[in-house]
Parts: sequence; C-alpha cells; structure tokens
Amino acid sequence: MNSLPFYIVDVFAEEKYTGNQLAVFRHAQELSDETMQKIARETNFSETTFILSDAKRDGGYDVRIFTPGTEVPFAGHPTLGTAHALIEAAHNRDLKVILDFVPGHTSDQHPWFRESRSSRDNPRRDWYFWQDPAVDGGPPNNWLSRFDGKSGWTFDEHTGQYYLHSFLKEQPDLNWRNPDVRAAMLDVLRFWFDRGVDGFRIDVSYRVMKDPQFPDNPPNPDWHEGMDPSLRLLEKHNKNHPDVHHFNRWVRSVADEYDRRVLIGEINVALPNLVQHYGQGDELHLPFNFRLLREPWEPAAIRAMVEQYERLLPAGAWPNYVLGNHDIHRVATRVGPDQARVAMMLLLTLRGTPTMYYGDEIGMEDVPIPLDRVQDPWELFVPGMGLGRDPERTPMQWDDAPNAGFCPAGVTTWLPIAADYETVNVVTQQMQEDSMLRFTRRLIALRREHPALNMGAIKMLDAPEGILAYVREDETGRFLVVLNFTGEPQSWTLPVPEQAVQPLLSTHALTPAGLEAGVLALQPDEGLLLAYN
Ligand code: GLC
Repeated sequence: MNSLPFYIVDVFAEEKYTGNQLAVFRHAQELSDETMQKIARETNFSETTFILSDAKRDGGYDVRIFTPGTEVPFAGHPTLGTAHALIEAAHNRDLKVILDFVPGHTSDQHPWFRESRSSRDNPRRDWYFWQDPAVDGGPPNNWLSRFDGKSGWTFDEHTGQYYLHSFLKEQPDLNWRNPDVRAAMLDVLRFWFDRGVDGFRIDVSYRVMKDPQFPDNPPNPDWHEGMDPSLRLLEKHNKNHPDVHHFNRWVRSVADEYDRRVLIGEINVALPNLVQHYGQGDELHLPFNFRLLREPWEPAAIRAMVEQYERLLPAGAWPNYVLGNHDIHRVATRVGPDQARVAMMLLLTLRGTPTMYYGDEIGMEDVPIPLDRVQDPWELFVPGMGLGRDPERTPMQWDDAPNAGFCPAGVTTWLPIAADYETVNVVTQQMQEDSMLRFTRRLIALRREHPALNMGAIKMLDAPEGILAYVREDETGRFLVVLNFTGEPQSWTLPVPEQAVQPLLSTHALTPAGLEAGVLALQPDEGLLLAYN
C-alpha cells in the first residue's frame, strides 16, 4: 500500500460551476499552461464527468448513466473518449484516478428504475425494493430518509406499492440481493477498471445491504427535539447489516481481477466496527477513517483515537485518516483558522494514507450561504440546523481575479465565492514563503522523501496538556512531531537529548519554535516536525 495523499476534488461540481476541470489538474501537478492547453485541445476536458447525472438532485449522487458510451448521452455531457483521454493524461503525469462509485441507489431517471416502476411484473421490478403498504395503507416500516427525517418509502400510485430510498425520493435504493443487480453493478466496476481507473471511493458502502425482513428500527434514546430529525431512530436494520461483508467481498473479488487497484469505503461507524471492513485482507483496502472529523480537537482525544485505531487494525491492514470532504464543514472552520496548519501537519505525519479536501491546503473556510442560494437538499429540507453542505462546497480559489479565477468574470457561480479569495488563493500563496500552500507542499515533499514519515511506525509520547507529540520511525530514520493544540505558548522539556533533534519544519515558517537547553518553546498554534537521530 502506498501512502501518498489522496486529494478529493468535486469534479462534477467543477463542471456544474464552470464547465472547466482543467483547474483540477493544473493544481494537482502544477503543469505549465502550455501543457494544459494541449491536454485541453486533445481531450475536450471542459465537458468531463464520468459517471453521469443530469438531474443533480443530490450534487450528482443520483446517477443516470454508470458507463457512458461513445455518443453524447445528454446535452453538454461527455463521452467515453473524454474519459479515456483524462485517465491517460493523469497517468502520464503519475497521478492516479479514483472514481466515486455509488452502489446503493440510482437516479429515479435511470432506465433500470423506469422499467422497475413500470409494472409489478417487469423483469427489473426486483432490482429495487418494492413493498406493499402496511395494513393502514402507510409505508411498510419506519425506516427514514436521511435528508428530511421523513419516511424512506415513497408510494407509487401506478403500481400500488412503496419503494425504498435511503436518501431523496429521486434516489431509489438498489437491491443487491438480486443476482442480476449484482452482476450489472460489478460489471460497472470492471468497465472502469478495464479503462485504467485505479480504484473507487465507494459511496455509503455500509448501507448497501439491508435486513431482508424489513423490521422496524428502534428509537434512538439519545435523540431530542432540535437534533437532526433522521437520527430519531437507530438505523439498526438498514445500515451496517452484517451482510455488508458479502458486499465488500464481492467488490474486492472484482478489484482482485486487476493489478494494484484500491477500494475505499465511505463508512461512518466506531473504530471497532470500522476495522472489520478490512475483513481478512479480502474486503476493502481502506475503510475511510473519519474520526479526525468527529473527535474533540484536544490532544488527549486524538491520542486515544490513534492508539485505539493502531491497536484494533488487523494484521496487514493499512490505516488512513480523512481531514475533510464535501459532507462536513471545512477543517479551518471546525478547528479554527489558527489551528488549520496544526491539523494539516497532523494529517500528513500520522501513519496512514491521508485524505484532504480541495481548498484545505490553502486554508479555505466555510462560506456563509444566503438563503436564496442554498443548493443542498439537506439544508432545504431541514433549514438552519447547520446540516447543509453548501458552505464547504464553494468554488476553489485559484487567484485574485473576479470569481477567484474559477470561471470568467460576470458569471454567477453555482455557490458564492468566499469573501477572502483575494488573499486566500493558490497563486497568491504560491508566491508567499510562509503560506499555508507552501507549508502543505513541504509536508508532502518530506513525506515522499522520508520512508519513516510515510510508512514508519508511530508511537505517542507523554507531553504536557495542550501538546500532542509522537515519533515516526523505521530502520531508515526517526522523526518527532510536536503539536500545540492551544492558542497559548507552550514549553516542553523534550524527553530526548537536545543534540539528538533538529527542527525540520514549523507551521510558523518564518519564526520557528526555539529549542534551548532541551526545552522546546512552542508559539501559540505551532506545530513542529523534527528529525530525531
Ligand atoms: C454520500 C455522499 C453524500 C451524498 C450521499 C447520498 O454520503 O458523500 O454527498 O449526499 O452519499 O448519495
């Protein structure tokens, strides 16, 4: 397992905002404009999305075409040729391409669902979950839709039955217990593997298998008024059902038909359960570890989490950590802008594949969304509770030109551009010695350069309250990471001889921490990486 960072870009969103995804590639590899223009000419990138949705009721997670052909499927959408060109261009630049695979549901516009709902005896009827009404005519059980907390079943007048949707009613759930569904969906994976895709991020993989008896879910004893309404029941029977491990093995066996492909699962459960998704090395390669998104931002909590994770990982399993994604408030907003670099140093020095979200490397923060610009169905259904995901989905800030260089001046972008884009943007930060961007790149470079920082073991150290400290080491080297989680100065008498350590990189590039007589003097919000001989 290689542990270089994954970088999440919202490709469908780029297309939605501007019809321009070139920016993604320029950013990832810093290619020259000339090269990018050449790729643009050769590939018509401006129309690329691979797994296609034209409705975009849930930001593209309502898929209508899993495997495009050579014809343009609907206005403004790409063909397979475009996908080929993009994969090849990425591989030529030593980038891997990981696609988002949405196995749990399709768009209600997908031809399979149109057929399925057309009559009770349609051969594809059983491809989705159809159930008779309960005796009172209501939904078959109490399962809820994640986005509005109302019933997860919608009645279909035409055929007199309800269909299940874990999310929007426009996202009917697929029935993976039906062998034909399984075969068709596994062929989607093969289709893309055959075209050179390096892996999949599997959308809500732990929801795919449901209890086939459809029992009611129990109430959540911790729920109270004012909480996310969909959490008032415990999702015991429609999420993380034990049969999900069959699903994991089905997809894994397809990935294993190919060389060096990765499967990453979106799974939001506690660590003891999460690690079961590695199986015996026969399930997912990387069940996403979202704990950094949820733990209190305190050294003791992070230390306990890392130690628990390390203890629980099955033999041969490779860890991973996620710092941000399109479903959660931005890290600079969660931990505060002053702690954003500490968080980045943590992510990029922990043992495990790091995943960062576009814009976090320049310290982008959540953007307040005026009511009349809200896009996310979650916010539209349950307004004002902070559930909406638009604030973290605003356009990437490339430069200080109008619309942050994301699209031409005068265009109204899909979501508003952050007010700070004139200073918080890629071009400006490329020129600043002490910028967040340059800092992030140095961290990535150090991680590439030193095997111990990449693959080495991790050992947490006892340190004063407010400081998280750990060692990364292997036979080629040893490093010490010291992170001040507070806005106060901290000092620590290092538990190693002063001459054994040498500062390599500080979050405060221009005025790094002092080390005198074995005492490390950290500034507020400072993180320090030291070589340790
Ligand atoms: C996943 C996606 C999220 C989407 C949901 C339903 O959680 O990350 O954005 O809304 O699945 O498809």
